[in-house]
Amino acid sequence: MTAAALAIALPRLARRSRPAVETPELVASGERLFADKCLHCHRDVPLTPRVAGWSPQRAYDTLARLPQVTPAMPPFHGTDEDRRAVAAFLAAVGRGRAKAP
Ligand code: HEC
Repeated sequence: MTAAALAIALPRLARRSRPAVETPELVASGERLFADKCLHCHRDVPLTPRVAGWSPQRAYDTLARLPQVTPAMPPFHGTDEDRRAVAAFLAAVGRGRAKAP
């Protein structure tokens, strides 16, 4: 690979592997998205014990394969930023920093 090609490829790789993180802003928008997309089921399927101790990255990875977790769950539809926000919210719930509604 030429230096020029590397200069183009490296930032793209870095973006793709950007780790999921928990920030108050992401948690807040994740909570709204969760209420919108997930709460109609998860009122009856409590999340808190299921995500205990989860990192944002584990939640982010799980969001890519919800139907494999249980066939009852539809795939997550949303942008990558939406997915990062919901992941932050799930991690905050799992670490006692937010409450699942
Ligand atoms: C159609 C109903 C339904 C919807 C919608 C739904 N879920 Fe679930 N979800 C379930 C059920 C049922 C389980 C429990 C599976 C089990 O424990 O056997 C579950 C389990 C989970 C788990 C635990 C996974 C694990 O590894 O134990 C997570 C995290 C989760 N859901 C997140 C979400 C998120 C985030 C959304 C919204 C984007 C969502 N779910 C939408 C039904 C749903």
